[in-house]
Amino acid sequence: MEYEGVISRYRQWMDLPGSMPVISLQEGNTPLIPVPRLAGELGGGFDLWVKFEGMNPTGSFKDRGMTVAISEAASRSVRAVICASTGNTAASAAAYAARAGMRALVIIPEGKVAAGKLAGAVAYGAEVVQIEGSFDDALSLVVALSEKYPIALVNSLNPYRLEGQKTAAFEICDRLGSAPDWLCLPVGNAGNITSYWMGFRQYDARRGSGLPQILGVQAAGSAPLVLGHPVDRPETVATAIRIGRPARGEQALQAAEESRGRIIAVSDEEILSMQRRLAQNGVWVEPASAAGLAGLAHEIQAGRFDPNGRRIVAVCTGHGLKDPEIIAKSMPKPRVMPATQSALEEVCLRAAGGD
Ligand code: F0G
Repeated sequence: MEYEGVISRYRQWMDLPGSMPVISLQEGNTPLIPVPRLAGELGGGFDLWVKFEGMNPTGSFKDRGMTVAISEAASRSVRAVICASTGNTAASAAAYAARAGMRALVIIPEGKVAAGKLAGAVAYGAEVVQIEGSFDDALSLVVALSEKYPIALVNSLNPYRLEGQKTAAFEICDRLGSAPDWLCLPVGNAGNITSYWMGFRQYDARRGSGLPQILGVQAAGSAPLVLGHPVDRPETVATAIRIGRPARGEQALQAAEESRGRIIAVSDEEILSMQRRLAQNGVWVEPASAAGLAGLAHEIQAGRFDPNGRRIVAVCTGHGLKDPEIIAKSMPKPRVMPATQSALEEVCLRAAGGD
């Protein structure tokens, strides 16, 4: 049967309005890529997969939840949607709103959204407003505005977002035959960790697929759930998770505790180093998306995590193309040479293994 997106694939697992148009871009069904070389570099003796959510239509996992949130809004004949965003939610909301013929208003922190995300939101036709404030400021503003005006809030405070995002857990169980032993993922506003835990529990309750332990990973400069208090001025190179007051923080802590997992923090250097290592395995992700695996590496190295014999899935939430500037900043620029064969021969020789 042709694949038609997460609602049509997993509808019977979702709590949806009785009748609802389906607004979809055929999101979901993303690759679960084995990365045995990387597992070997981290000590070996375990199976490691990357759930590459950057392969969704707008380049991040947000599309799974947005198809449901926008479809539900369409069922109420809503004409406009609003969200706060560090970028990916903005691009996704803009695309699905365009698909539904709705207006999208996205509020982002000025100067802190990666180029590919901002470009996406603009290209899909959203009204984009940068505020002189953080994501957390933007979120409290859009919550207040959505209560005052007939505009649907499509941040992950909207429960329909979670209904869609939990389908990634179903896909993992369907592919592996059961839940993995561990799931590692980045944590920002904490909607995704909450969704995965919902999804795994739901599948386990009806199918006995088992439950993973969850390792949630924040960036050290934006780690309210690790510190145990909000962070007023969050900072990190992983701008997607530059969040100091996660809306679903309590549920994230609960998911970590109930799963006998934990939430930890890693440095920006660890995030960027894992971004490079993943790219060396053919998977290029944006910095935030490398945080889950950076956390796994961190725990193994510290001797706090014995991966032996385990099946581990790391969620890579967004595509590397979202944030091209970080590569320009952290990697050498390609050199320019004369357009002659003799100049290039020297380069070929080195690539071919001579010197
Ligand atoms: N990874 C990426 C690439 C993200 O864009 C986000 C969140 C996360 C991880 C964290 O997920 O918030 O559910 O814990 N981005 C939001 C946005 C905040 O506005 O695009 P979370």
